[in-house]
Amino acid sequence: MNVLFIGDIVGNVGRTAVKKVLPALKSKYNPHIIIANGENAAAGRGITAAIVKELLEAGVHGITMGNHTWDNKDIFEWIDDQPRIVRPANFAPEAPGQGATVIKANGKELAIINLQGRTFLPPIDCPFRYADELIEHYQQETKNILVDFHAEATSEKIAMGWHLDGKASIVLGTHTHVQTNDDRILPNGTAYITDVGMVGPMDGVLGMEKGPVLHKFLTQLPVRFVVDEGNWHLHGISVEIDDATGKAKKIQKIRLTETEWLLM
Ligand SMILES: [Fe+2]
Ligand SMILES: [Fe+2]
Repeated sequence: MNVLFIGDIVGNVGRTAVKKVLPALKSKYNPHIIIANGENAAAGRGITAAIVKELLEAGVHGITMGNHTWDNKDIFEWIDDQPRIVRPANFAPEAPGQGATVIKANGKELAIINLQGRTFLPPIDCPFRYADELIEHYQQETKNILVDFHAEATSEKIAMGWHLDGKASIVLGTHTHVQTNDDRILPNGTAYITDVGMVGPMDGVLGMEKGPVLHKFLTQLPVRFVVDEGNWHLHGISVEIDDATGKAKKIQKIRLTETEWLLM
């Protein structure tokens, strides 16, 4: 089976890019299941019920989240009723929503597990132990398992890749919004990349308008960040998994600018 994963979608610019490019990505990579990180989909902060609907209608089958999960307060009203969204599994057990689920589409099944790192991020339960428990549980249902490790430090993400090599089909990183050049198949068959990247404005700072971000770095004064409105870029990965074994056979990076897309 083929899995397409799209990095953190930032704001309206990011959502528009996904809707425009998805038909071309579908014909090029033939994905059975499409997953996207949606933690910044609503103006850079969290996600709304309407945006979940918009992304699902665009062809996304499952949505992962991260440290921005609760930024839109209305999520508390609906997250328990939306089976296609997962937030980090290592949030407190009292947190609403789910940390993992099985996505079924086009005759294929993929367990998706969302975890958040602990380095340079707020304190949270151990993602490595949660990964072990969840994989043991979901392996009874399917061999095809994707882990979105939403984390800041490259070391913590690479460590997770090694920890889960041979246990998950795909271990990918999100959160930094910068695509890394270390995509590979690990020795025991796990497709790995430290960070998939983002979809959204490319001339700001991680999707935000650069002026206020620079002002903050230069003055340390409080500023309000807003999503930039300029040209977009889209980052993702396509992974081929042998359904019979759950091992990854191929991983390909996707990196496209708005200008390149217009010339396609
Ligand atoms: Fe993000
Ligand atoms: Fe994040």
